[in-house]
Amino acid sequence: MGLKSKDLISIHDLSVGEVATILDVATKLKRKQKNGEPHEYLRGKTLAMIFSKASTRTRVSFETGFHQLGGHPIYLNSSTSQVGRGEPVRDTARVLSRFVDGIMIRTFSHDSVLELAKYANVPVINGLTDLLHPCQALTDIFTIQEYKEILKGRKLVYVGDGNNMAHSLMFAAAKVGMNMVCSSPKGYQPNPEILQQAQEDAKQTDCTITVEEDLFTAAKGADVLYTDVWTSMGEEAERDIRQKALGAYQINKELLAIARPDAIVLHCLPAHRGEEITEEVLEGSQSVVFDQAENRLHVQKAIMALLMSDETL
Ligand code: CP
Ligand code: NVA
Repeated sequence: MGLKSKDLISIHDLSVGEVATILDVATKLKRKQKNGEPHEYLRGKTLAMIFSKASTRTRVSFETGFHQLGGHPIYLNSSTSQVGRGEPVRDTARVLSRFVDGIMIRTFSHDSVLELAKYANVPVINGLTDLLHPCQALTDIFTIQEYKEILKGRKLVYVGDGNNMAHSLMFAAAKVGMNMVCSSPKGYQPNPEILQQAQEDAKQTDCTITVEEDLFTAAKGADVLYTDVWTSMGEEAERDIRQKALGAYQINKELLAIARPDAIVLHCLPAHRGEEITEEVLEGSQSVVFDQAENRLHVQKAIMALLMSDETL
């Protein structure tokens, strides 16, 4: 299957077939977990999980998922490990590689994750950086597939800040042939280099990845409306200026009315009600955000099993 011993740092690095394999294995593992069937593909293995930023979903889904796969996860917080006291990433990578079978990391700088992967000789999984959030975006396409069955040709509209979430969604959409429109104001549009790479990827699957400043033009005919916070972790000092700049980029009932009548609404959570999404839409019948959150567990179990298991899945 080709993913054994690899890292998962960016969806851009995965082939179309590898993305399809992750979705397939996630479907199988979700079924096994729901049916109470054993699936301890990582029995006896250990995973180090390094967190330099806050988390609820990522920590609990990785920790629970690794445990369900028969392994032992170890939580490391930067403030209570040597990571936060200046031990170089390349040393942490080599030390942890002597103990564990895989490393999951959530941190600020994307380059730190690249360096960790360069020096580690066990798989490294990106649990979010300032640039990307691949495990969330893979979960999101899995969730869309559960609701819409066919991904190819669907229209995903991302509303708001062109951040780590927008970037990973562009890569994910490109790999599965979904058309994606990122609707953001000037100054908050996605990184042009990432956009260009996603557009290159999209040629393989015959879809389009575009940016459209006008939100109501972007949302026309959407199968999926997606948003994320206006102020990501690490950007708190810009909160006021971001509130003003992104204020119009909200998923509300007026916007939902422009999408297809059967459109679903996604949000990676945590949500700021009244900012990027209204209470009414988040709690409404088209919102599938809690299924989406649950799917972190199943998709990440698939990723970990594919990267780290000695068994055929
Ligand atoms: N969506 C997500 O990654 O949530 P956490 O920050 O709670 O991990
Ligand atoms: N863009 C958000 C995602 C949180 C899951 C952040 O980086 O804070």
